[in-house]
Amino acid sequence: MRPASILGRLLRGSVALALAATLFEPVPASASDQKTIAEQLVDAFEGVFGVHAGARRSGAKGVCATGEFIATGAAAHLTKAATLREGVRAPVLARFSVGGGNPNAPDASPSVRGLSFAIEGPGGEAHEFVLINAPVFGARTPESFLTFLRVRQADPATGRVNAEAVAAANAAHPDWAPQMAYLRENAPPASYATAPYFGVNSFVLVDAAGARRHARWTFEPVAGRVGLTAEERASRPRDFLDTELRDRLGRGPAEWRVLLTLAAPGDAVDDAVTAWPADRETLQVGLLRITAADAAGTKGACDGRFFNPTLLPDGIEPSNDPILTIRAEVYAVSLSRRSN
Ligand code: HEM
Repeated sequence: MRPASILGRLLRGSVALALAATLFEPVPASASDQKTIAEQLVDAFEGVFGVHAGARRSGAKGVCATGEFIATGAAAHLTKAATLREGVRAPVLARFSVGGGNPNAPDASPSVRGLSFAIEGPGGEAHEFVLINAPVFGARTPESFLTFLRVRQADPATGRVNAEAVAAANAAHPDWAPQMAYLRENAPPASYATAPYFGVNSFVLVDAAGARRHARWTFEPVAGRVGLTAEERASRPRDFLDTELRDRLGRGPAEWRVLLTLAAPGDAVDDAVTAWPADRETLQVGLLRITAADAAGTKGACDGRFFNPTLLPDGIEPSNDPILTIRAEVYAVSLSRRSN
């Protein structure tokens, strides 16, 4: 007899109720079991980078910027999204950032760079983007990412990260490898404006008749992809990215071609660590033009809020990628702790 049916029979008798109470007596849970995975992820960022009052727990260092999003209409047959309709010109509130939870991270560090921005469609519908300069994410699931972060926390007794444990965990988690390889092979950008930015997760485009296609975002810098040389990596001032961006914008806007790449049957649509083959159909659906950036170290309009990659207009839906699904909750937890 299976245990479930034994339990079923027991629960039918009144004598069994007392027994059931004993069977189901809660096992004391550890504090981390009682937390959501989103809270545990934010705890893990704090464990790796420390707690920095007022700062995002990742993408902690950054600068607010403004500009304009201009839609070409090239995706109008694939999505009814108002923000992508031909002729739409939407004001942009953006933020460029350096990956990780250290607000004083050197701008040449070999982590990811980020671009987040919010626009509104003509009817006021919100559409937000949260992108990094690598085409793949660092882990396939939230649980795997939690392990990735936890093994990188310093041992409180020694103050050191256990390099052997990190190496063993890396070997045991092949889903961590693609992003590490990409960051090793591609130098950190020489400018926020010379980085490509990728949505990484896929989204579902829905047309007026209800047909659905998975697609991924790429923002291709009009100035070209330019990375730091080895010499520049060693010699650039720690905070060069903000200054470089403001100097550049003083001479003219920074622009990205906004591309949507369509999945073909069999492509990994719910897997943020697997890139699609390079020959997939790609459409230029817009142009992102950044025209101004705040002064370094000031609190701007992009602070005091978070950008939500699943805040989407009618006609674009989140995929089932577990890394995408959890992000809004993680970002809300991080926002709630920023006063700490
Ligand atoms: C489970 C997966 C992820 C976790 C746990 C995570 C965690 C975080 C946290 C805690 C923040 C700070 C949020 C805030 O206070 O506003 C953040 C920001 C950010 N994340 Fe993620 N993230 C994940 C996935 C991703 C992915 C897939 C991307 C890009 C494709 C991404 C790009 C960014 C960027 C660019 C920022 C800075 C946002 C800003 O400038 O406001 N993250 N992330």
